[in-house]
Amino acid sequence: MSELSPIDKAKFVAAKQAMAYVKDGMKIGLGSGSTAAWMVKCLGEHVAEQGLNIKGVPSSSRTAALAREVGLDVISLDEARWLDLTIDGADEFDGNLNLLKGGGGSLLQEKIVATASDQMIVIADASKAVETLGSFPLPIEVVPFGWQTTKVLVEETLIGMDVLGRKVSLRMNGDAPFYTDEGNHILDLHLNRIGNARQLSLVINQIPGVVENGLFIDICDVVVIGYGDGRVEVRDINQGSIDETRIDFVETENLFADLSD
Ligand code: A5P
Repeated sequence: MSELSPIDKAKFVAAKQAMAYVKDGMKIGLGSGSTAAWMVKCLGEHVAEQGLNIKGVPSSSRTAALAREVGLDVISLDEARWLDLTIDGADEFDGNLNLLKGGGGSLLQEKIVATASDQMIVIADASKAVETLGSFPLPIEVVPFGWQTTKVLVEETLIGMDVLGRKVSLRMNGDAPFYTDEGNHILDLHLNRIGNARQLSLVINQIPGVVENGLFIDICDVVVIGYGDGRVEVRDINQGSIDETRIDFVETENLFADLSD
């Protein structure tokens, strides 16, 4: 355990605690990003140890590859149709459990998968908790056709919005534009503060070249927050509860030995 940074320990304990929500026979949406990668590893181990029948629906090609690597039974959303649970990370979450996501560029598939689930759980380290969303740039997925016109329309739309910054940048992958798994581009909106996330989400999605944005409003039910010392806090918005527990690292040595990224 000593080789793990406090932030990785925090992500790991949040991921591990989320296994409490996994029940035999479930179809589970698998999130994307570094915290979700811990969750996929924990789930692979949990399913093997408990002999569970679990089907996983990945929200990115990267997660699909990892899920197969850890031995999970991977199916598509079209095969699953509807999911019992999605477990994913987030770039920010506020007190109402509204989320800002898409730092890894997978917001579209993530949002489709989370919306198709009876319950969505976010796993995160404590740095992701914010009072108001928007310090992290808001990603929006746009179709490549006419993306520069779409960018101008987004900039014009932001003039009327309750935000503190209006810079919009095309996400790059080295010297070339970044492409999502769906073949689209990402515009990052540097807003600093999003005063009305619900309104912004609705208005941005009205622009024809915009496929989806990274604001997840009223989608998340539970946030599991990990800390570097093994503490875990579980906030459940429906039950209005906040519970705290602690994860024992020693049980999971095999998982760390297998750590590949
Ligand atoms: C991926 O597109 C994102 O929505 C991730 O869920 C988010 O960026 C969190 O990633 P980390 O767990 O790596 O911080």
